[in-house]
Order: sequence, then structure tokens, then C-alpha cells
Amino acid sequence: MKQLVRNVHIIGTGSYTPETVYTNEYLETIVPTSAKWIEENLGIKERRIALPNQTTSDLAVEAGKKAIENAGLKPDDIELIIVATATPDRLAPSTAAIVQDKLKAYNSVAFDLAAVCSGFLFGISTASQFIATSVYNNALIIGADTFSKIIDWSRRDCVFFGDGAGAAVLSHTETDGGFLAFRLYTDGRGKWNFTIPGGGSEFPLSYENVDAGYRYFQMNGKAVYETGVKVLPKAIWQVLKDTGLSINDIDYMIPHQPSIKILKDTAEVIGLPFEKVMTNMDRYANTSGGTIPILLDEVNRAGKLKPGTLVLFAAVGSGWTYGASIIRWS
Ligand SMILES: CC(C)(COP(=O)(O)OP(=O)(O)OC[C@H]1O[C@@H](n2cnc3c(N)ncnc32)[C@H](O)[C@@H]1OP(=O)(O)O)[C@@H](O)C(=O)NCCC(=O)NCCS
Repeated sequence: MKQLVRNVHIIGTGSYTPETVYTNEYLETIVPTSAKWIEENLGIKERRIALPNQTTSDLAVEAGKKAIENAGLKPDDIELIIVATATPDRLAPSTAAIVQDKLKAYNSVAFDLAAVCSGFLFGISTASQFIATSVYNNALIIGADTFSKIIDWSRRDCVFFGDGAGAAVLSHTETDGGFLAFRLYTDGRGKWNFTIPGGGSEFPLSYENVDAGYRYFQMNGKAVYETGVKVLPKAIWQVLKDTGLSINDIDYMIPHQPSIKILKDTAEVIGLPFEKVMTNMDRYANTSGGTIPILLDEVNRAGKLKPGTLVLFAAVGSGWTYGASIIRWS
């Protein structure tokens, strides 16, 4: 992999999750599931749920504001906004355009990125190319989703997801370090293993397609598990090779939060002690595009990231999409 032309750093983080909490015990009262099973198999105790009138952009804006403030910047300083989401406010315009307007960040170009649970990772990789090549100096990348809006609350797979948003400001500074490597992958043969089929050109909004349940997500849990434990190590080994680092050099892994089992099995395969794997799915479940930036914000605000700290990001999502990245914190 080629060296980035200019150093790209994360200079601010922010996150927002709605106030309403759905506990596993509450879900037991609405679908045939078990609180114990959810916690043991998925690592989830509760999740946050957006209000009926709260949109993905509402969550994204709150996270974005905090990240801009944490970076010591103003909305006018932002030149690029990328919103990674699988639950946009509307099919058009992009949620990023709506976020730009709500933030009044009119000096920016703004667009959405569709890589579902890998979206934030794909977003920081994309933004880094623009910053490394001097096109932009400051970019705001937001991962935001409101899966509660595409969950069939009568099915037991409603237990997996929650709503939330996280954000990071990426900038060029002369400080050493920053992003050291990115590896992104797509395998479209996985397109039926996790999908939200309705509302697009294949299954447009119609009474028939709504009755068929196409507005809800469909997931093959076994395929997600089997793919996750195979592709996450592949991506991680590749970025370690790219950087010449060993897994022992990594201080923290900040991964997507699909299930505790996928993360424990991945950590074992790559030889990373699980204490170094950051998790928050117990409180938020899988917030899809929101998982990595919400967790990053928590780890950052907890003061764990010092100059020189090596952080490994990794994600797998619908598509399939997957990848990994390493940053040396500054
Ligand atoms: C979900 C997962 C734990 C299920 O394990 P599995 O053995 O592959 O799946 P199965 O559907 O055969 O379920 C096995 C048993 O688990 C239990 N189970 C599955 N889903 C359940 C749920 N939502 N609530 C309670 N029990 C559940 C049941 O006992 C089930 O047996 P049953 O079918 O006789 O009722 C596993 O597939 C997994 O971790 N997948 C990853 C999913 C994920 O991370 N998704 C989010 C990212 S997109």
C-alpha cells in the first residue's frame, strides 16, 4: 500500500444515542425470546430507540456537533461531510445534505456512503484520501442509523439492533502518526444475507411490497457469523502486514459491534487479548453505521487514547462489505 501523501489525524469525536431504552426483559414481553439468550449469545443487555419523529439526520447532527466542538472547529470549517447510513431520512436527497443544512456547514460538500455496518470505516477511508491529497483539510464523518424504523417488532430478530450516531473530524496536521493503513473489501455475492429490500427500484413502495414485509431488514444470522469470523481476521492481518506491525503492538481494537461471540472468536484467531477489544453492545446493541464512532468517542472521552496509542478498527457488514484500518493516535 502506498504511503499517504499528508498525515491524516482524528482531531475530534462525538456521539449521540436517543434516551428511550428497550431492555432485553422488555423484548421478552413482545416477542418469543429470552433475555438470558440475548445477553449470553450477543452480549446485549439493552438498546436505545429513536422517538417516532426522530430521524437519522437528527441523531447524526447531535453527534456531528459534538465532534466539531471536540475538534475545536466551527461548522464553517468543515469542507467535506460523509454520512454512512443504511437508514437514510429519505431516498433523496442524501441524509448528508440534510445534515449539512441542519449544521449550517455550507462550506462543505456532503454525500452519503452505503456500506451498512462497515460504513464508518469506508467513510474515514474515503475522507482520508481527500485530506491526504490536499483537496480538503477538515472532514466530518458520521455513522448514523435508526434500525428501529426497519425492524419488524413482531419477530425475534428485533433483538439485534439499536439506534445511534457517532462522528469524527479528520484533519491534516504536521504531527507524526495518524492513519497508517486502510483495507476495504466488497463481495456482492453476499447481497441476500443481510438486506433491506423495500423502497428502492427493485421493490418500490407499494401495498404489495409493504404487505410482503419488504420494508423490514432480513438477516441470515448464521451466514453473518460465519462470514464475520472469516473476513475480519483476513482484513486485520492485511493491515498489520501493510504497516509491518504485529498484533502485540495494538493497544486497542475498536470494532463494529455485531455480537460478542463474533468479536471473541475473532480476537482468539488473531491472538489479541480480549481486554484490548473495546465493546459497548451491552448498552447500545448493534447501531450499524454508529457502532465504531460511538465506541471511539467513548474510548476517546475516557482518556484512553494518548499520543502514540495504536488503534485497530475493523468492521463487517451487509454486501458483504468489510475492512480494517490502523491509526497511531496523536
Ligand atoms: C444469532 C446467532 C447467535 C444464532 O445462532 P445460530 O445457531 O446460527 O442460529 P439459529 O437460528 O439456528 O438459532 C439457534 C438457536 O438459538 C436460539 N435463538 C436464535 N435467535 C434467537 C432470538 N432472537 N432469541 C432467542 N433465542 C434465539 C434458539 O434457541 C435457536 O433455536 P430454535 O431455532 O430451535 O429456536 C448467530 O447466528 C450469530 O451470532 N449471528 C450473527 C448475527 C449478527 O451478528 N447480526 C448482526 C450483524 S448484521
